[in-house]
Formats: sequence, structure tokens, C-alpha cells
Amino acid sequence: MEIHIVTDAAEGARVVADVFEKTLRDAGDTGAVLGLATGSSPVPAYTELIRRHREEGLSFATAQAFLLDEYVGLPAGHEQSYHHFIRDNFTAHIDIDDAAVVSPAGDAADPVAEAAAYDARIVAAGGVDLQILGIGSNGHIAFNEPSSSLGSRTRVVGLAQSTIADNARYFEEAADVPVRALSQGLGTIREARRIVLTASGEHKAEAVAHLVEGAISARWPASSLQLHPDVVVVVDESAASQL
Ligand code: GLP
Repeated sequence: MEIHIVTDAAEGARVVADVFEKTLRDAGDTGAVLGLATGSSPVPAYTELIRRHREEGLSFATAQAFLLDEYVGLPAGHEQSYHHFIRDNFTAHIDIDDAAVVSPAGDAADPVAEAAAYDARIVAAGGVDLQILGIGSNGHIAFNEPSSSLGSRTRVVGLAQSTIADNARYFEEAADVPVRALSQGLGTIREARRIVLTASGEHKAEAVAHLVEGAISARWPASSLQLHPDVVVVVDESAASQL
């Protein structure tokens, strides 16, 4: 793992954006396959990429993107859906083709079949070149909560109480937070050729310590990234404080 301890959000955003920029340039006309994450952690990097698009001509025109996860029960148009979040915070502000930004259908009649079809769609696209990740305070990545199988594929998962509490800030009340999600599995995520994970704040420090130097265990799902040969971790000093 390549660990960057940064002094502020702006520096972290630049480091992450540099990794994206290299991936886009390396892919050239073939078009990069990007794996995008929601949550607050990647937003500064998305903002920096939007700036580079507007001011420096960085183009995403040939790229396609797959989201990590989606809440079960929320249609694409719902304000709190991840389909909506990624457009609002990133892809509506760059030149990527909107139809090339794909996420699991939260309102699919058969979520189990939707999960399998989504996993197959990523494989059929040739896999993800660069996956950006945040990390939950309990060590989850995407919605792979503690006890997720290290080889898991995209599937329907239940959310941990702590995740529901963490994400309640986006909803009017905690009772509105969906209790299930469609999430890429730990095995699916590790098939990305490169991974960049970003985290900030004291509340992520324990999870970051398990990610970087803990035992590989389903108890801390992010620790499974130690099995991947090309992971870049970008953390601020608070998130790095237990390393
Ligand atoms: C959610 C998402 C994760 C994200 C996590 C952390 O549960 N499913 O992909 O990493 O929240 O969110 P934040 O970055 O807002 O702390």
C-alpha cells in the first residue's frame, strides 16, 4: 500500500485527482472504466476533478463509470439515491456521457437478480481501471459491513446499525434510512486494477489502522484491501493518528 498523510482536504483532493488524471491519460481513446463512490470523503476530489475539467480541459468524454452501491427501495430519481448523489456532486459537471454512469437499480423488482446482473456488467466492461473508496467508521467499504465474506460479489446486504446512524444525517429521520442496499462485494472491488481510498477525521482512525496494519479479517472489511497489489491510501493526520 502507498500511504499519503496529507495536511488538509485540498492536498488530499489533489493527490486523489492526480491518480484519476493518470488513469484517464493512460486509457487514452479506449476510455477508462472508473469506479465511483458516494459519501462525503470523495467529494473534495470530485470538486478538484471538476475544476481540472473546467480550467485545464481534463476530459472524461470516453470514460464510463460504475457506482459501488445503491440503497434498496430508492428509485434513481430519489434525492438520497446514490444515482442522484454522484450526478449532483460530480458527473453532471464533467463531460462524461450520462448513460455511461451506471449504478445498481435500487427499485429493481428482483434485487437479487439485479445484483448478479450488475456484477456481470462490470466484468463485461472489462473491469474497473480505478476504484475510489471511502471507509465507514466500522471499517466497511461500499456497504460491505463487518462479517462480509472477503470474496463476496455484488449482492443484497443489510446495513449495520452504526451505518444507519452515520447516514441518518442525509435523511429527515433515522427511520427513513433504508436498511438494505445493493453493494459490490469485497471480491468485486478487489478486481479493480487500482484502488484509491480516502478518509479524514478522528472517527475514521481506528478503521484506517485496521485497513493498513490490522489482521486481514471480515471483522474489518477494509483490511481485505491488503490482498490487493495496487492500493493508494490518502488520509489526513487525524485519520492516520492510530497508525
Ligand atoms: C456510506 C457508503 C460508503 C462510504 C461510507 C463513508 O456508507 N456506502 O461507500 O465510504 O458511507 O461515508 P463518508 O465518506 O461520508 O464518511
